Amino acid sequence: MMKFVPVAKLSDLEPGSCLSVEAEGGMLVALFNVDGIVYALDNSCPHAGGPLGEGALAGEIVKCPWHGWRFNVRTGVRVDNPDFRVACYEVQVEENVIKVSLPISW
Ligand code: FES
Repeated sequence: MMKFVPVAKLSDLEPGSCLSVEAEGGMLVALFNVDGIVYALDNSCPHAGGPLGEGALAGEIVKCPWHGWRFNVRTGVRVDNPDFRVACYEVQVEENVIKVSLPISW
């Protein structure tokens, strides 16, 4: 079951920036603001678990801070090898609150 849960304030995520957040239940989510549109991915890089929300965002591409794998934040697909991808989560922004649709197991 998926549920929208509040994870951050929009005012804490300027355009062109990214952020790692811990959602209710302990899930770690990476948030990205691309020209005012917010995207959310699983925070854990499929290479070795690097925190994607602490990476470097250029346009819609984030570079993992640990070894540099690059992912499209809209699709979760690795730029250099589409066999690798991270989960994308649906986002809603209501006033200043970013909500992300997450699998609920708690
Ligand atoms: S952990 Fe992300 S590139 Fe290695």
